[in-house]
Amino acid sequence: MFENPYRPGAGQLPLYLAGRENEKKRFKRLLDQKPVLRNTIITGLRGVGKTVLLENLKPASKEMGWLWTGNDLSESASLTEDRICRRLITDLSLILRPILVKSVDQLPIGFARQPEKFDIPLTFDDLWQIYDHTPGLSSDKIKAVLFKIRDLLEKSSVKGIIFSYDEAQNLSDHAIAGEYPLSTLLDSFSALQRDHHPVQMMLVLSGLPTLFPKLNEARTYTERMFDVMTLAKLDHENSKLAIVEPIEISKSKLKFAEKTVEEISNMSGGYPYFIQYICKEVYDTWIDQATDGIVTSVPSKEIVDKLDQDFFAPRWDNATDRQQEFMWVIAGLPNCETEFTQQEIVRQSKQRLKKGFSPSHTSQILKTLEDKGLVFRSRRSKYCFAVPLMSEFIKRQNLNYQNP
Ligand SMILES: Nc1ncnc2c1ncn2[C@@H]1O[C@H](COP(=O)(O)OP(=O)(O)OP(=O)(O)O)[C@@H](O)[C@H]1O
Ligand SMILES: [Mg+2]
Repeated sequence: MFENPYRPGAGQLPLYLAGRENEKKRFKRLLDQKPVLRNTIITGLRGVGKTVLLENLKPASKEMGWLWTGNDLSESASLTEDRICRRLITDLSLILRPILVKSVDQLPIGFARQPEKFDIPLTFDDLWQIYDHTPGLSSDKIKAVLFKIRDLLEKSSVKGIIFSYDEAQNLSDHAIAGEYPLSTLLDSFSALQRDHHPVQMMLVLSGLPTLFPKLNEARTYTERMFDVMTLAKLDHENSKLAIVEPIEISKSKLKFAEKTVEEISNMSGGYPYFIQYICKEVYDTWIDQATDGIVTSVPSKEIVDKLDQDFFAPRWDNATDRQQEFMWVIAGLPNCETEFTQQEIVRQSKQRLKKGFSPSHTSQILKTLEDKGLVFRSRRSKYCFAVPLMSEFIKRQNLNYQNP
């Protein structure tokens, strides 16, 4: 059997994680803080490698004495304060199960229902009782749980607990419904980090670039509370390593010629998901013909077609006709793959369409595209496509909305 050594797909761990040494070092420095004053945000475009980096930060954290827990934050988990607190307590109880047991003298009322058996692990219900019995707002309640756990862990060798949440762009406050799950989360951790307790707690949030502005909107102090790591595409050297190393590691007899490596690197634009995808396709095509040898060509036309179908089309089809037209206008800007402004879109639309987009219409469509995860607003209040190389896909569609 010749197993393909490439792993395209959300959260699929690559055989070789290329070019993230700086991020790993930076994270280790954060783990060394005493007390923890800064939490971590990992952000970047779709498929740039946020989830797999998160996974790769776990082992070092464990080695340094931290417990690691967390989850993907679905929209429903972040809808209400109660739900986000439930999420935290569920994740906490899972990680504590092997460490803390119920004991009458250590825990507050109503805890040791079977005091004669001291080796019963702490459960979600136990923690939820602390939550439930604490008066006040959700943030007071969740703080009480976290404070209690910190005290209980003081006698253990645990240095702290990392709460890691992926897809954290789903978190927001809902003022109309009177629900503030994001603020509750931020307030709780900021309170925890204000006193110098020997057991630390750190928040690691990962998600699309909309994440940080959202946090800032909820609480202005987040600027100081987080170290933001923005994952970029891989540089040429690291793209090459991402292409070549899986073949070396898996001891494949099929090797890529230097020219093939260059071609794949260029096609991918250095984006990790595209590297894995293209390499997998090239590998599969060649392994059909021979089990060893040198891969000297890339069936690029077929691969691009397939990538368009698999990756871009579902996202494109998620937009309405008018939104597609709008993105087509953006794709005509020379700076469409970096950052663009509302004014540039308005100007460009007047040139490219008979009836262009007004400024208010432009900001309205940008907002809906943001909600669909197709564009995001950068820290400089400019806009970017959230999907890498989206403009090239749009150009490949040979669309023409121009009126004759
Ligand atoms: N540094 C890297 N080196 C090699 N391959 C990588 C690297 N980072 C990510 N990949 C590959 O890229 C793909 C996407 O990775 P991942 O799912 O972590 O991206 P993501 O940023 O979390 O995407 P999304 O925004 O969709 O959640 C996976 O197939 C993964 O194996
Ligand atoms: Mg991800």
